[in-house]
Amino acid sequence: MKPYVICHMVSPLDGRLLVDGWAPKEGPLRKPILDEYQRLHEAFDADAWLAGTTTMKEFATGQAGAGESPSSPPDRPWHLADAQARHFAIAIDRKARLHWDSATADGGHVVVVLAASVPDAHLAELAAMGISYLVMPGDDIDLKAMLEALNQRIGIRKVLLEGGATINGAFLKAGVVDEISVLLAPAIDGSTGSPAIFEAGEDGLGARIRLDLASADPVAAGAVHLRYRVVPS
Ligand SMILES: NC(=O)c1ccc[n+]([C@@H]2O[C@H](COP(=O)([O-])OP(=O)(O)OC[C@H]3O[C@@H](n4cnc5c(N)ncnc54)[C@H](OP(=O)(O)O)[C@@H]3O)[C@@H](O)[C@H]2O)c1
Repeated sequence: MKPYVICHMVSPLDGRLLVDGWAPKEGPLRKPILDEYQRLHEAFDADAWLAGTTTMKEFATGQAGAGESPSSPPDRPWHLADAQARHFAIAIDRKARLHWDSATADGGHVVVVLAASVPDAHLAELAAMGISYLVMPGDDIDLKAMLEALNQRIGIRKVLLEGGATINGAFLKAGVVDEISVLLAPAIDGSTGSPAIFEAGEDGLGARIRLDLASADPVAAGAVHLRYRVVPS
């Protein structure tokens, strides 16, 4: 079974991705809006949050390991480092670019999802850090198969997909997102060329999905919380 997937993002009125562009670090809007985003995150009561490689770099601030080959081949496809974990941070890192200095990220036990080409030495580095991993077949990660595996092996039933734009676009293209949640901040970025919260290549998403409004609620800090069900078109 595939977990229920909610793509949860925060954005200004023009739908831009990078918070620094519309809520400067020292500005009055940033903290109340990010606090509200976190409050909504917690209210969803999901089993896991998930992000793409670039977004997860903000959490994966470790150094590459020594790169020595382990004496015996590491487990594939699964290594479960914490059998007691009930809340997870899923990092998609198909090219093994992330290095960690903690086995938790934003309160979740880290589970890294990699492509089959990942070297044994990188898996050994993750295991030594107490991090769980899942190695998927092939070079590209089949997102539906990955979600089903996360449900089957570690019991994830509800997951928050929290960016960035590229991984959101890939999930939407794959047809595996059930709901969109956007905290719309009272701000405008307006800078030319700044990415949007969904990026899905030249052909985009307009012909692929339809959105049905589920709710639109004014919340703290002058923001509006929008929820849409995703309907394949
Ligand atoms: N406004 C918000 O609510 C919000 C939320 C989260 C993040 N952000 C911001 O978003 C920014 C990052 O966004 P981003 O779009 O640049 O990066 P991202 O979506 O976090 O990660 C993109 C990377 O994911 C990998 N990837 C792409 N497609 C994939 C696929 N189909 N399957 C598996 N992996 C795939 C690629 O790396 P490889 O080529 O190495 O595989 C790609 O470079 C950050 O600055 C962050 O702060 C904003």
